[in-house]
Amino acid sequence: MRKKVAILGSTGSIGQQTLEVIRKYSNEFEVVGLSGWENTASLKEQISLFRPKVAVVKNEYTVRKLKKDLDNSSDIKLLWGTEGLVKISTLEEADIIVVAITGIASLIPTFEAVKKGKKIALASKEAMVAAGELLVNEAKLRNAKILPIDSEHSAILQCLKNEQKDCIEKIILTASGGALYDFTETALKNVSIEDALNHPTWKMGKKVTIDSATLMNKGLEVIEAKWFFNIPVNKIEIVIHPQSYIHSMVQFIDGTILAQISEHDMKIPIQYALFYPNRTINNFSRLELTKIGQLTFKKPNFNKFPCIKLAYQALEIGGTMPAVLNGANEIAVNAFLDSQISFSAIPLIIQNTMKEHKPKYNPNISDILDADYWARERALGFCILE
Ligand SMILES: NC(=O)c1ccc[n+]([C@@H]2O[C@H](COP(=O)([O-])OP(=O)(O)OC[C@H]3O[C@@H](n4cnc5c(N)ncnc54)[C@H](OP(=O)(O)O)[C@@H]3O)[C@@H](O)[C@H]2O)c1
Repeated sequence: MRKKVAILGSTGSIGQQTLEVIRKYSNEFEVVGLSGWENTASLKEQISLFRPKVAVVKNEYTVRKLKKDLDNSSDIKLLWGTEGLVKISTLEEADIIVVAITGIASLIPTFEAVKKGKKIALASKEAMVAAGELLVNEAKLRNAKILPIDSEHSAILQCLKNEQKDCIEKIILTASGGALYDFTETALKNVSIEDALNHPTWKMGKKVTIDSATLMNKGLEVIEAKWFFNIPVNKIEIVIHPQSYIHSMVQFIDGTILAQISEHDMKIPIQYALFYPNRTINNFSRLELTKIGQLTFKKPNFNKFPCIKLAYQALEIGGTMPAVLNGANEIAVNAFLDSQISFSAIPLIIQNTMKEHKPKYNPNISDILDADYWARERALGFCILE
């Protein structure tokens, strides 16, 4: 029996790579649901190739646009908005839900999938950052499984296989440093959008690429790691590793460090999540260690990249603060991409928003959504002042 997969965010970078993996293993997986948002042309191609039963886009207008492009004989069900996303994240027949939507829009469909006890392959780190505790507790209760697609967390999951939790000394998250790591503090004040999007190793969506340039991406991953692996924050360390071949490491109480090393290819962690707990053969390109020559490591500069500090702070404060960090960051990144604020204003806007927030502890889903909404409003106000 083929496993039935629904993919949220199938028109994006992770979504497309997930479909590439599924195409290679068409005898193992079948696609039952897809969601795009605005890119109906790409979704139309995917529908023709994978023939899902349901597809979701942004609104009624995008549904009409997609319907016009589709073959008349197609009997696919077309839905829109959050309701549509929840429909496919909770599809009765779906065995695996891949969540690869950018931003907080991923939270409600992920939460609903967890409530249904699904196996979820999660790329959307924002959902785990905003509501990690809630998602993890609910998953335990409903017997759901949340597996990471992010290469760092996939690496940690692989290093921890067959290891005892109380033998972990620390988790070491590697960071490429993003596009701007070697810029001076003065140069960082005049960064253009093109500079910030020029990632040295990964080709990704714009939001995550800017997060990599501010190093907020690593901060978000620290929060993600805390919830995925139930590790105290003081045991999660970041190391700059510009070559990005080591995707992350775990140091154990006997001084041993295990690392997961592979090519810069998101299809590898995607495949690992889809087949988990099994490892399966593929023909993706192989890393040739003698061609790389050197692997280097250095300490991150928290002063030059204050977003990492803000993420650690949000995690230490807890409650709704990580949701506020995430919401303010999404607004600031969009404002930078719209040329409304400078690159160096991004951490200031997040910091100012966090300063004004009174966190609520043990938040439920409404508390988290309220905190996210509040943070967006407040951060927008700070963007206008910039
Ligand atoms: N790319 C990577 O290598 C990578 C690695 C690790 C983790 N991640 C994480 O994976 C997630 C996706 O990243 P990505 O690089 O694949 O992003 P992306 O290329 O920008 O794709 C985002 C996807 O989400 C859809 N979308 C956008 N806004 C939406 C909304 N409000 N509601 C529902 N769907 C929406 C997009 O649809 P349309 O394009 O049709 O508008 C697209 O399918 C992010 O959380 C990112 O941090 C990515």
